[in-house]
Amino acid sequence: MTERRAQISPSILSADFAHLADELARIAPTADWAHVDVMDGHFVPNLTLGLPVVEALIAATSLPVDCHLMIEDPDRWAPQYAEAGAGSVTFHVEAAAAPVRLARALRSAGARAGMALKPATPVEPYADLLPELDMLLVMTVEPGFGGQSFLDVVLPKLRRAREAIAGRDLDVWLQVDGGVSADTIERCAEAGADVFVAGSAVYGADDPARAVEALREKAGPHVAGARPA
Ligand code: DX5
Ligand code: ZN
Repeated sequence: MTERRAQISPSILSADFAHLADELARIAPTADWAHVDVMDGHFVPNLTLGLPVVEALIAATSLPVDCHLMIEDPDRWAPQYAEAGAGSVTFHVEAAAAPVRLARALRSAGARAGMALKPATPVEPYADLLPELDMLLVMTVEPGFGGQSFLDVVLPKLRRAREAIAGRDLDVWLQVDGGVSADTIERCAEAGADVFVAGSAVYGADDPARAVEALREKAGPHVAGARPA
């Protein structure tokens, strides 16, 4: 079995947008990734930032950038984020016209290819696409806003996603995003997640770097295949 470990990807959606470079520096000592939420005001009812800002963030941080694209027509726009140097680019399957072609384009531009599912999108129709992906993102809130309550109802799908990955003997990371906190992260890890996005739980803390460590310590023992600490 591939060895896995708990990775934490703090979402800067909950950071101070007037000081993003400083906010990234606060998590850099302990985070694995910087999660950047790109929203276009169409796929989700919120508008955040786009390629020029992502390019500036990539230049401003030592962390690899984990781009979560909540946008229409990712087939057209997502490869530019990979070309800009994002370490990981995740598109929503609900918005993609040709997810396999898009995943291949992301990989050939040098990024890890991620595909996201909204809470009501089943995993089964996409299970055969897993070999084309480096990460599957199972949303645990409706995408669009930080600070929402975790949807426990998604946990059985998370479990089935992990089974689909393990059954194909793939090394695909399984990310959760939405309402992940000290109260919910163990449930996510037990269900099979190994990459954890947290916005308000990190940036709402007095010490974001320490909050990242605390989340990893909680999740780690529950990540199947992880080496004991
Ligand atoms: C929501 C975004 C999340 C958001 C999570 O659509 O994709 O990344 O920042 O925020 P919390 O952790 O506060 O739920
Ligand atoms: Zn996100």
